Amino acid sequence: MTDFLSTTRTFYDAIAEDYSERFRNELADRPLERAVLGLYAELVGAGGKVADLGCGPGRSTGHLSRLGLDIAGLDLSESMLAVARRENPAVPFHQGSMFDLPFADGSLDGVLCWYSSIHTPAAELPRLFTGFRDALAPGGHLLLAFQVGDEPRHYDQPWGHPVAIDFLRRRPEFMEDLLKRSGFTMLSRTVREATGEEKTPHAFLIAERAEASEDAEDTESAE
Ligand SMILES: C[S@@+](CC[C@H](N)C(=O)[O-])C[C@H]1O[C@@H](n2cnc3c(N)ncnc32)[C@H](O)[C@@H]1O
Repeated sequence: MTDFLSTTRTFYDAIAEDYSERFRNELADRPLERAVLGLYAELVGAGGKVADLGCGPGRSTGHLSRLGLDIAGLDLSESMLAVARRENPAVPFHQGSMFDLPFADGSLDGVLCWYSSIHTPAAELPRLFTGFRDALAPGGHLLLAFQVGDEPRHYDQPWGHPVAIDFLRRRPEFMEDLLKRSGFTMLSRTVREATGEEKTPHAFLIAERAEASEDAEDTESAE
């Protein structure tokens, strides 16, 4: 397994229970996040087939399931998935990497990437977004959430566990440019200020998979 993937998996395997405890009820206190997720659910449409990639303990997966989407979660970390399955018994969860999706090309109406692209090095993002595009049907929707900034934040020994990782902050313009190059059309950009103990604003981008004829650079150059 690539280094950054095994670091990510080891990190979340160690902290899964503490992370889940800390964030389990966070959405209840976050009307803006609920509004973004609600808008996304409407854009996808009731019963739409969605993958929550990097679902962690399944808080966003469970929320969108309750909003009427046909959603499944996928994560690298078995410990995160154990929590997700325990807390959302009616939702299917799969172990795997979002670089190697277990979904047929064009089979999804939506991809959710809720704070889970934040450990992917910038050089790997085009490959990640191209994979999301391929899994989506034309007109399918992507929702990407991440912390805004230029510098990574290093986390060492969270909750006393002997693990460490970098949380990579990004500029919305940078992500939008990559998404457009990967065959997406931008629909909305929401940025909210840092709240509580947070250090940075948070961004929520919604994009639509372009029709085949408008597809990305790699498609054009392959002709
Ligand atoms: C900050 S947590 C967010 C979890 C969840 N989306 C939430 O908001 O609670 C990041 C999650 O993404 C997962 N992740 C990161 N990179 C991944 C990859 N390449 N494939 C699958 N899961 C990944 C991690 O294992 C972790 O559970």
